[in-house]
Amino acid sequence: MSRTIPEQLAELKDFFEKEAESIFPFTLPQAPVLGEAMAYSYHAGGKRIRPILALAAAKALGKDPRLVVPAALAIEMIHTYSLIHDDLPAMDDDDFRRGRATSHKVYGEALAILAGDGLLTEAFHVAAAGMDNSISPSGKLRFIRELSRAAGIRGMVAGQVMDMEHPDTGDADFLEQLHVRKTGAMIQISCLVPAFLWEIPEKPWHSLRKYGEKIGLLFQVVDDILDETATLAQLGKTPGKDRKQHKITYPALYGRDGAAELADSLLHEALQALEDIPESELLAGIARFIAKRSH
Ligand code: IPE
Ligand code: IPE
Ligand code: MG
Ligand code: MG
Ligand code: MG
Repeated sequence: MSRTIPEQLAELKDFFEKEAESIFPFTLPQAPVLGEAMAYSYHAGGKRIRPILALAAAKALGKDPRLVVPAALAIEMIHTYSLIHDDLPAMDDDDFRRGRATSHKVYGEALAILAGDGLLTEAFHVAAAGMDNSISPSGKLRFIRELSRAAGIRGMVAGQVMDMEHPDTGDADFLEQLHVRKTGAMIQISCLVPAFLWEIPEKPWHSLRKYGEKIGLLFQVVDDILDETATLAQLGKTPGKDRKQHKITYPALYGRDGAAELADSLLHEALQALEDIPESELLAGIARFIAKRSH
């Protein structure tokens, strides 16, 4: 019997975990406590949606998923750093993440900041040094350039600043830009990993870009809804924080029903974008998971 889409996605996740472990095992003899703090957050049980997207996109384009693992790991390391810093008292001031006490609660603020710095910096080492020799230097460079764009001052870091700076003055455009930057950029680059590592035809390139844009926005719309509707046990992080901290979110601006309608239409657009990719069932499954998830 053929495996269901959720089974195939679970397999991709396991495959990523095993392959990634051999690329970066998180043991740092020169600074053991730093390695421990980095591993504490990295191994806390994240959904690994970004690596799964990169591997599924590779499969959809007929590329060997093994070859995108270093890039996927670099993305997940940057994502993990962003969560550690996002939870700091100076930012969202959260006590729980991925079902555990947050990094600063366990290791103190200084080491939490440094564990984030370590993950961010090492991600670029993994991306630069960990990739297979069959990938061209220009492919590697394209990916590294785009990774810094998505993670940094044109992407996530800028989005985090927008999130902090304008607690209750948002309009629809501002809200969309905020979401696109703080979350969308890292999701979109995950989908585009194989498109940067290899030259691919224009049609699937545009499809993946559009798909990544729509699910990136969808991901944060659903995160905002779950902040209002889910529990600590489901999320592994404290719900109800966005309203308390007067964040600009989709439910705050459009109400829960309006946000849910937007999520539906983003899912629809993401699925439509996949029409030019022949083997896109896994990517469609991920989009559906993101829209319907409860954690
Ligand atoms: C949470 O990301 C932070 C956002 C960008 C909304 P995830 O929901 O992917 O968190 P993990 O990786 O599964 O913990
Ligand atoms: C954070 O968004 C996105 C990041 C870049 C880390 P949130 O602040 O909404 O993420 P959660 O809800 O704490 O996971
Ligand atoms: Mg935040
Ligand atoms: Mg937060
Ligand atoms: Mg949130």
